[in-house]
Amino acid sequence: MKKFEIRSEFTEYDSIDELPADDQNLIKAARQSVNKAYAPYSNFHVGAAVLMENGTIMRGNNQENASYPIGMCAERVAIFAAGANYPEVRIKAIAVTALSPAFIIDKPITPCGACRQAIAEYEHRFHGPIRIILVGESGKVLVADSIRQFLPAQFNSDDLKVKNP
Ligand code: THU
Repeated sequence: MKKFEIRSEFTEYDSIDELPADDQNLIKAARQSVNKAYAPYSNFHVGAAVLMENGTIMRGNNQENASYPIGMCAERVAIFAAGANYPEVRIKAIAVTALSPAFIIDKPITPCGACRQAIAEYEHRFHGPIRIILVGESGKVLVADSIRQFLPAQFNSDDLKVKNP
């Protein structure tokens, strides 16, 4: 028997002004996107922006549905749009923000489990980490160098013995 520990490391910033310019730009894009979210059922609006290696920024926001479970999170809308439009280009970073008309979101919202798995697929596919930048409407900013910090012990195509194309 062996016990072991997996450590996760995050950086917390007091304000977006402390972040590098690329991160600030990506947060701005996520904040533009959050205003276009379609979230009439939860009223919880989420915006995401993905920075690609070629400099392209792909935006996404949550898209809900009267058939609740088929709605899609902002992170996956943005990541899948990046993958669909630029299948050869690595994703370097994703910024995520959230907004509610009912209350102030003054802390970062972390991606749901399914989005963590989806982001992990793209890290694995392009053999490089994706920087994760999370911020609420106000308050601190949470940054991680990889989705591994949020999703250790991953399941990926290695387990299926399928080679990534
Ligand atoms: N949501 C996201 O878009 N991203 C997250 O990381 C958490 C949750 C969406 C899904 C749903 O439309 C709404 O927020 C409430 O769960």
